[in-house]
Amino acid sequence: MSKSNDSPHPDDSRLKVKDLQVYYFTNRGKVRAVDDISFEISGNESIGIVGESASGKSTLGAAIIRSVNSPGKILRGKIYVNGKNVLDFSESNFNREMRWKKIAVIFQGAMNSLDPVYRISEQLRELMQEHKIKGDYEQFINQALTDVGLDKSVANRYPHELSGGMKQRVVITMALLLQPLILIADEPTTALDVLVQAQIMNLLKKLKAERNMNIVMITHDISLISEIADKIAIMYAGQIVELASSSELLVNPRHPYTQALIKAIPKIQDTYTKIESIKGNPPDLASELKGCRFYDRCPHAMEVCLQDPPLFKTKTGYVKCWLYKELDLEGTNN
Ligand SMILES: Nc1ncnc2c1ncn2[C@@H]1O[C@H](COP(=O)(O)OP(=O)(O)OP(=O)(O)O)[C@@H](O)[C@H]1O
Ligand code: SF4
Ligand SMILES: [Mg+2]
Repeated sequence: MSKSNDSPHPDDSRLKVKDLQVYYFTNRGKVRAVDDISFEISGNESIGIVGESASGKSTLGAAIIRSVNSPGKILRGKIYVNGKNVLDFSESNFNREMRWKKIAVIFQGAMNSLDPVYRISEQLRELMQEHKIKGDYEQFINQALTDVGLDKSVANRYPHELSGGMKQRVVITMALLLQPLILIADEPTTALDVLVQAQIMNLLKKLKAERNMNIVMITHDISLISEIADKIAIMYAGQIVELASSSELLVNPRHPYTQALIKAIPKIQDTYTKIESIKGNPPDLASELKGCRFYDRCPHAMEVCLQDPPLFKTKTGYVKCWLYKELDLEGTNN
């Protein structure tokens, strides 16, 4: 791959988010949904974004594809896709060159937003026309459905005639119509039973490998993503508090919040072990936030934690916690 002139990054950096800040301006005040977030994925890496409800995961996903809902605003930061900052594009250029072609998204709950009055073939055909895809529509639709493991007869059905898993496969088909480089999948298995969840995750894993696609997988369920994500970013109250390779993070979680999330995963062999839920609630993102945002729930809270912890570098990422002050050997907080 040749180095693009406007790319200040390594050639294989597919997605780089730098110092991203997205707030919602509500009558309750500004909600700091995404507050200074940075991460990067290269080559064909995928990343899992994990955190509790309202931690800002969907806002982050929406910001990457410039679809933050009103009254949200991207205030600061850069989002490089293949070295180009998508925030530098005019809306029309972004739509023409990037949206769906380079980055696509499966929005949270998308499978429940399929139009109930149109058959699947009609919905796919409309999208193809919108995207100006040429060729034999019927053949294209049959192939697209087969690629996601659906029978071509699904084309003639209405959404209500499909199971949850089948609807999710249709939604995946729609997102992948233009063969994007990066797929943002926001809670793609919520509301599906465990078996179907596993099937959808396997499908995404297969498509990722076949198409050399990067996936940004958003979920509140850390146990789901280890197989698909090369890296995991743990979000808490609008910030990434820990980022590491999946193997490192799952075996050696550093941040007390990550440790608590992992402890809360039910283990099949431990049927009698009580699952520990995380006590307390995250802070209100519309309030004045000082110091470590996990302070009130942290079993290790210390006086220094009343100051905002910087990002301390680890072997494969970083951790935002004063317990790891001594790790920052290079003295760089990125
Ligand atoms: N349109 C909006 N207007 C105002 N506030 C919003 C809006 N959308 C999200 N928020 C707020 O931004 C914060 C982050 O929300 P977001 O939906 O990004 O979280 P999430 O991690 O995706 O949660 P969930 O796991 O429930 O999907 C929350 O405090 C939420 O209330
Ligand atoms: S910075 Fe302090 S309060 Fe925050 S997670 Fe680390 S130890 Fe706990
Ligand atoms: Mg969400």
